[in-house]
Amino acid sequence: MSDKPEPPLSAIPPQLVSLADYADRAAAHIPTAIYEYIVGGGADEISLKRNREVLDRTLILPRVLADVTRGTTETRVLGEQFRHPFMLAPVAFHRLVHPQGELASARAASALEAPMVVSTLSSYTLESIAAELTSPGWFQLYFQQDRDFTLSLVRRAEAAGYSALMITVDASLHGIRNRAQRAGFELPPGVEAVNLRDRPPLPGAVLEPSQSIVFQGMMTEAPTWEDIAWLQARTQLPVILKGVLSPADAVMARDLGIAGLVVSNHGGRTLDCVPSGLELLPAIRRVVGEEMTLLVDGAIARGTDAFKAIALGADAVMVGRPQLYALAVAGAQGVAHMLRILREELEVCMSLAGTPTLADITQDALYRPD
Ligand SMILES: Cc1cc2nc3c(=O)[nH]c(=O)nc-3n(C[C@H](O)[C@H](O)[C@H](O)COP(=O)(O)O)c2cc1C
Repeated sequence: MSDKPEPPLSAIPPQLVSLADYADRAAAHIPTAIYEYIVGGGADEISLKRNREVLDRTLILPRVLADVTRGTTETRVLGEQFRHPFMLAPVAFHRLVHPQGELASARAASALEAPMVVSTLSSYTLESIAAELTSPGWFQLYFQQDRDFTLSLVRRAEAAGYSALMITVDASLHGIRNRAQRAGFELPPGVEAVNLRDRPPLPGAVLEPSQSIVFQGMMTEAPTWEDIAWLQARTQLPVILKGVLSPADAVMARDLGIAGLVVSNHGGRTLDCVPSGLELLPAIRRVVGEEMTLLVDGAIARGTDAFKAIALGADAVMVGRPQLYALAVAGAQGVAHMLRILREELEVCMSLAGTPTLADITQDALYRPD
């Protein structure tokens, strides 16, 4: 870590061959407090660690001598054809690590034909990012207290050509971010939530001494199931809920006509002491059926991680922090390289496991000791 971060590299050194290499290298390119904000999780980081642990203890059972010469990583998600199942998760403020921010990430996603989910809290406008994207772009929505303003964000996303709305439902509050607090993280000058510039000022709620700053304060902005239904009735875009872990919530979402879910604990950054998305994926797949789109994220950093997620019921996976590491280290070419590594690792894994298509990756491809 450094308070004098190195500028992004202009060429990728041959030693950078995995996402872990980018993660290690990133510390030298990111100011300390920002690095701590990115890398950290909620409270004691139990969920953050669990995301990796669960992936590590899930093992693959390869089948040999299969013909994979017609192999492909192609998949259909929400009616769109994807070349591979890796997506850029919505991540706020890419300018924290690179002056070109989301514009560079969008160029990289386009080069690798990876869908990008653009955060409400992007540091370039959602329109300018869409202008860089030739791969599918989805817009991640954080509900705002002013519902008309929330709807105006949706209208902007529709006009800019985003093809799906991903509503994040697990982060109405930041959670307890002790690591970022200890490091004294705050947004540096020049980095802001540009999409929210025209947000009407919040009516300053005056709380009675008996009222809670959380329940009667911050949570008054949080959406409920009624708000989701309200929004769904006002857009033609498919709606995905991000941050669902409970099978009961998954069924409620499906019954409401929600097109897809991201089974996720927000990279271990919101409520601590929850399981990883991967752990709940099979149960959620069971209760919602085969039709509903299921994505998963949390610690995905290898082709083998995506393989495991697909075996457990995911249609595609999203990567969060690795985007920022690669962006900090080598800008757009770093992010493109990161995506290429993932795609190639998945192809190698599928070949060696004897599964030529994503449809062949079922729970039988995993090792389950008796
Ligand atoms: C620095 C940072 C900012 C994030 N910002 C958002 C955001 O604006 N909206 C959102 O829905 N999720 C956000 N997330 C969560 C990611 O979309 C994703 O769920 C998580 O990073 C996946 O875990 P991983 O980082 O281990 O891949 C953010 C994550 C990080 C690390």
